[in-house]
Amino acid sequence: MNDTNYDEALVPDVELPPLLRLADGSPVADADTWREQRRPQLLALFAQQVYGQTPVQNLPLHLETLEETALPGGALRRQLRLLIDGAHSVHLLLWIPRQRPAPLFLGLNFNGNHTTHPDPGILAPSGDRAARGSSAGRWPVEDILARGYGLATLCCDDLYPDRVDGRADSVQRLFEAPGDEGGAWGAVATWAWGLSRALDALLQTGDCGPVALIGHSRLGKTALWAAARDERFALVVSNNSGCAGAALSRRRFGETLAAINTRFPHWFCRNFRAWNEREDELPLDQHMLLALAAPRPLYVASASEDLWADPRGEFLATLAASPVWQLLGHEGLPVREQPAPDTAVAGRVGYHLRRGGHDITVWDWERYLDFADAQLR
Ligand code: GCU
Repeated sequence: MNDTNYDEALVPDVELPPLLRLADGSPVADADTWREQRRPQLLALFAQQVYGQTPVQNLPLHLETLEETALPGGALRRQLRLLIDGAHSVHLLLWIPRQRPAPLFLGLNFNGNHTTHPDPGILAPSGDRAARGSSAGRWPVEDILARGYGLATLCCDDLYPDRVDGRADSVQRLFEAPGDEGGAWGAVATWAWGLSRALDALLQTGDCGPVALIGHSRLGKTALWAAARDERFALVVSNNSGCAGAALSRRRFGETLAAINTRFPHWFCRNFRAWNEREDELPLDQHMLLALAAPRPLYVASASEDLWADPRGEFLATLAASPVWQLLGHEGLPVREQPAPDTAVAGRVGYHLRRGGHDITVWDWERYLDFADAQLR
């Protein structure tokens, strides 16, 4: 985008909408008011204005184990088919460590389960173009298993093909058409719905402990929205999620609402477009999305060269969300200034700025596993 701002000196003074005030202006001073009033208000706002309304209709889910392989050392690889309403299939790839039940990370992948690991036994969708193992660097399966965690992944395209006209081929076709077109759910909300169905499936298998959600970039935005809506997720990690993820929209640093809504109009609801270039009038900002994870553990990670995602805006949103953890009796983010690169900080809210570009690396994963050790074990 030609008019992208990467100059901190040009960032406007940002006044965030208050997190701990109800819509009528009264203060949110205790945990009950947060849980019973403020949290539902914010969930409704994000559904109306950003991600769209997820239908309440429950579709029947049928699980089939396609194959299971015992790996050397006692771990298991299992592949499941989730058949939704008898008409839409999604494949789930699951790695389970030797000691079970075990806590597990669940995350969507971009290009198919077979891209996340070179193992030739991983089923690939027919006619698929992406190469086997091509994104294996983002999924250090053996390290995760060695640390005693499971891993489950599914491809976002199985739920909603990531293209402007993907809706007709998405799982949305199984639902009744929404009454309000402006507030109809987009791809991010559909992917988030799919994460909850994957969780349904995992909970049916006896060998999964608490399920942590993880997502990179657009799938990090999705992980945050899924965790906000579904409190069964025990922990959430946002990796470089940027605009409409962890970054504050009002800063207009890097990707802006106009930029994201123009290039990816299918990700959000139509109402979101009304806020293009009107960020200051938005009744919400992304610190409020992060706060919807509370009191569960939240980790936000940025990368120093990933300016499009506004690393500083991601840190400031995390800091601004933190008082909700304190209100609920936990330590939030333990610092007030953005930490030096390659330094992890964590209370029940964690953050790091990895040196480097837009990616999820083994170093990032090590920090998430350390955080999960501290928070889930
Ligand atoms: C684009 C988009 C971002 C998104 C990213 C990704 O860069 O503008 O909002 O996070 O793709 O998903 O990799």
